[in-house]
Amino acid sequence: EVRVPNGFSIRRIQKQDYEGVIKTLSILTTVGAVTEKQFGSIVEYWDTQKLPKGDVYKYNPYVIVEDSTGKVAATGNVIIEQKLIHECGLVGHIEDIAVGSEFQGKKLGALLINKLTEVGLESGCYKIILDCDPKNVAFYEKCGFHTAGVEMQIKA
Ligand code: ACO
Repeated sequence: EVRVPNGFSIRRIQKQDYEGVIKTLSILTTVGAVTEKQFGSIVEYWDTQKLPKGDVYKYNPYVIVEDSTGKVAATGNVIIEQKLIHECGLVGHIEDIAVGSEFQGKKLGALLINKLTEVGLESGCYKIILDCDPKNVAFYEKCGFHTAGVEMQIKA
């Protein structure tokens, strides 16, 4: 089971997390102009998408929050993909992981990955996968992941 350090909480993203999530994600990549209204309707969409069986959320967006300040310390998502292969198996895709710069190096990234992995496995996934920059391989290895395959892409 995932242990959360004193002074922090981990939970699904809520509409109130707008500013904190956008700020935290912008250390990962370009977020651009996302209004509070757009954020709110995406959170609503994430909260209403369920898989065909077992009352399982398709999107599992999480935040780690610092209790004393309400600040978002970290954010990430595990998306559960419904497949046909492996007897209608499920695969979890970990996406959009970011730990705020002032919160890095405190094991919150590892906590977030452990939590998202647990959510994926408890949802019934037979594997959890992610793509990352080579510089983050050592971090994910410490979280129990190993390299399997190569990421390829076409960029628009
Ligand atoms: N290289 C090697 N080791 C690392 C690295 C790294 N880049 N980052 C962390 N570690 C190690 C730590 O030293 C620690 O090791 P220890 O347990 O032996 O002490 C262990 O990994 C856990 O580290 P945390 O403190 O949990 O790491 P942190 O909270 O700083 O989060 C993260 C790491 C997520 C990479 C953070 O630095 C970050 O947000 N970076 C910028 C955004 C980013 O690259 N996100 C990942 C994108 S990939 C994706 O989204 C699927």
